[in-house]
Amino acid sequence: MEKGLFITFEGADGCGKTTQMNLLHEYLILKGYDVVLTREPGGKGLGERIREILLNYEGEVSSQAEAFLFLADRAQNIDVIVKPAVDAGKIVLCDRHIDSTIAYQGYGRGVNLERLKMLNDIATNKFMPDLTYVFDIDVETSQSRVGKNKDRMESAGVEFFEKVKKGYLELAKKEPERVKVINSANTIENIFAQVKEIFEKTIC
Ligand code: TMP
Repeated sequence: MEKGLFITFEGADGCGKTTQMNLLHEYLILKGYDVVLTREPGGKGLGERIREILLNYEGEVSSQAEAFLFLADRAQNIDVIVKPAVDAGKIVLCDRHIDSTIAYQGYGRGVNLERLKMLNDIATNKFMPDLTYVFDIDVETSQSRVGKNKDRMESAGVEFFEKVKKGYLELAKKEPERVKVINSANTIENIFAQVKEIFEKTIC
């Protein structure tokens, strides 16, 4: 491929997105593609340090400050990992991206959506995913999958995650070409069959 692809994996905590990303990774490697894996917050270096703060800091964190930290991490991930790889013709699979900010900080925390989009455009220079999978899961199941040892974000409560779920579904309605919703209430194999089918349609 001359220009690569940027594919993101989204959904509430416990939705199974990381398992599906890893399965798609193995599948693409077997098909001979050059694939790069990354995640937000995180990726490597500075991103992992920001992730540590975002998930484990125990003091007060304002919603705006939280949003800016996710965006700082994103700017680093795009500049250092994603864009260079896509420009070199690789496929980048990224565990979470812009839609997490809209769903969690926008719908969940109540930060203004237009403001978040504008700030995201600045952080990424408007570099957007070619394809986004949203793994839709009911809140009860996602909470039980996450278990008792919750990090700072996972501890936000049932009401917060109802809003996050709604946010993802509204996003998918607004951008049906890019954002594809898959129901997580299914076997890993069945879900992966849908992931593959959507991928094949995208590259055709
Ligand atoms: P995860 O890597 O286990 O999915 O955890 C990352 C957490 O960070 C998850 O709870 C979602 C949250 N998050 C946001 O709230 N906003 C964002 O922009 C991103 C990328 C993640």
